[in-house]
Amino acid sequence: MKTSNSGNGGQPGNGKAIYSFMDAVAGEAEQYAQDHTSPMSPLLEEIERYTLQETDYPSMLTGRVEGRFLQLLVAFSEARNVVYVGPFTGYSALAMAEALAPDGRVVTIEHDFANAELAQAFFDRSPHGGKIELRRGEAIDILKSLPAGATDIVFIDADKANYLCYYHESMRLLRDGGLIIADNALWYGRVFEPEDEDSKAMALFNEEVNADDRAEKLFLTLRDGIYLIRKKSTLR
Ligand SMILES: C[S@@+](CC[C@H](N)C(=O)[O-])C[C@H]1O[C@@H](n2cnc3c(N)ncnc32)[C@H](O)[C@@H]1O
Repeated sequence: MKTSNSGNGGQPGNGKAIYSFMDAVAGEAEQYAQDHTSPMSPLLEEIERYTLQETDYPSMLTGRVEGRFLQLLVAFSEARNVVYVGPFTGYSALAMAEALAPDGRVVTIEHDFANAELAQAFFDRSPHGGKIELRRGEAIDILKSLPAGATDIVFIDADKANYLCYYHESMRLLRDGGLIIADNALWYGRVFEPEDEDSKAMALFNEEVNADDRAEKLFLTLRDGIYLIRKKSTLR
């Protein structure tokens, strides 16, 4: 039996319509979105090329569309203080630094020595590199050492098993109205029926965030899912 198309712009009238639509365009849509997004700075384009050609995990790179999205959030919110877990080759840290005011700062945390060296070498070549403070070590230890209520944006993109710990620390670090950006919230679609430990951790993270009344939430299906979580003001 065919589903009804009436009154909804020709879309099938059941809850699965959105998924068939996504399935039909997902592959091409990624490329199309990239082609219709402004190129990044020459240094960021170089980091992208380097990461794709020279590293073992090129798919970890956020890339142009998400990079521009991060820049937009930083610029629109007029953020001054950003904390970022997981810089890898430095792409997203530098993207956000480019969008920050001259007195803005990104504190970014990396536990892999080689990645930290690589990222720092790229930061040193950028006029915005001075806004980035790269801390080497375990994310949770360094997050715990940062002051409460002084951060505008936290970007989380490392170590899926610990997302929930990073979330709780991030809520402490954020000022009222501050924003958490959690990458890979769909975890390649594995959150729907989680089997391995990382997938279970990401599914639990999404559920706990969704149930947290201290925050306003927006779950975006951009790339591998981006969970935007805004700490509510205690004054309202
Ligand atoms: C998925 S990559 C981030 C990619 C990055 N957002 C980009 O745009 O290229 C995750 C990074 O986090 C680092 N990392 C993983 N676990 C960590 C931890 N517990 N503490 C600090 N860094 C960690 C990894 O070494 C890796 O460089």
